[in-house]
Amino acid sequence: MSGLQKIEWAEMHMPVLRAVSEELSDSLKGYTVGMALHVEAKTAVLVRTLVRAGAEVAITGCNPLSTQDDVADALRAEGVHCYAKRGCSTEEYYEAINKVLDHEPDVVVDDGGDLIFTLHAHRRELLENIRGATEETTTGVKRLIAMHRDGKLEFPVIAVNNARTKYLFDNRYGTGQSTWDAIIRTTNLLVAGKTVVVAGYGWCGKGVAMRARGLGATVIITEVDPVKALEACMDGYRVMKMEKASEVGDIFITTTGNKDVIRLEHIMKMKDGVLLANAGHFNVEIDVESLRNTAQSRIVRNNVEEFVLNGKRIYLIAEGRLVNLAAGDGHPVEVMDMSFSNQALCVRYIAENELSPGVYDVPGEIDEHVANLKLNSLGIEIDKLTPEQVKYLSEWRMGT
Ligand code: ADE
Repeated sequence: MSGLQKIEWAEMHMPVLRAVSEELSDSLKGYTVGMALHVEAKTAVLVRTLVRAGAEVAITGCNPLSTQDDVADALRAEGVHCYAKRGCSTEEYYEAINKVLDHEPDVVVDDGGDLIFTLHAHRRELLENIRGATEETTTGVKRLIAMHRDGKLEFPVIAVNNARTKYLFDNRYGTGQSTWDAIIRTTNLLVAGKTVVVAGYGWCGKGVAMRARGLGATVIITEVDPVKALEACMDGYRVMKMEKASEVGDIFITTTGNKDVIRLEHIMKMKDGVLLANAGHFNVEIDVESLRNTAQSRIVRNNVEEFVLNGKRIYLIAEGRLVNLAAGDGHPVEVMDMSFSNQALCVRYIAENELSPGVYDVPGEIDEHVANLKLNSLGIEIDKLTPEQVKYLSEWRMGT
């Protein structure tokens, strides 16, 4: 399949983004949008949407392993400035980010915060031209909130991740399906009957755990947040420390957004033949460096590296980089349809509104509009509040 075919397949299954594209008309004419996203087919449909709305777009990847080169080529063939390349070094990664910034964007679309960070740290001369940005993922939003807390964020950013039509679907059902899709297609191994350890019970962890259960695994959750740990327990999962889970798990998946979640001391305790995968944005959750410094490795299958430790074989998938994109195609198309519709509408919102520096939620009307468009595309109609119900909901005198 060529990059163009992949893009066309995705576009065919993105009715919400197609409707948004019609609404945008030429509202982005004269704007340059600089993007760092996972360059694969759904992202290309978002790029097409912004281009159709009149924007000039420059894009690169937001992870060294997530770019699909055939899609990047197809974008270039359509005249988009695309600098993404799969398997780039860290140096090449930041070179490409800087090439996007050379286009002097008015609006930035980021996934993970590397583009916004580079702007503030190394390309400060461009800051005054930036109207604002959007951020796609939980990790990036956390980073931006920390920047704003420290008084360092110099333009407004809309946290697309925090839209209900994003995290409830993309983080939960998207990560839930795409993580398993990638692990299964990469290893061709059975999940039923295995013990799966999911680190983190945020929206991504919930999705991964839910689908592991559906595939017939026994699921263990590890958590640091007592409320989430309790929630996992009452959702019917076993909850324990990673130290204990290390001894019994067959497949380990990190979804925390934090570093050093699976450390050498854990790996030392693991059984022969376990699989390690990370579904978080950055490759910091599994301490791959210590693993490399301790054990010899060899590639045993595409995207599978075998380490031998104390005579036990440990299989690391996709170098510990986000597995669903590094070893798969990312989230299902219908899920990204909603996430990227939020993105497109938020880009227009930034173009049309003057906001001061800070991290903003997606405006409620955009979130609900995306939900309504999705319901329309599914042929689902829902009830409306009657005037009496509206009045009742705003009334505090009425009780028993
Ligand atoms: N495809 C494009 N962007 C993605 C993301 N942030 N997560 C999963 N799949 C994607």
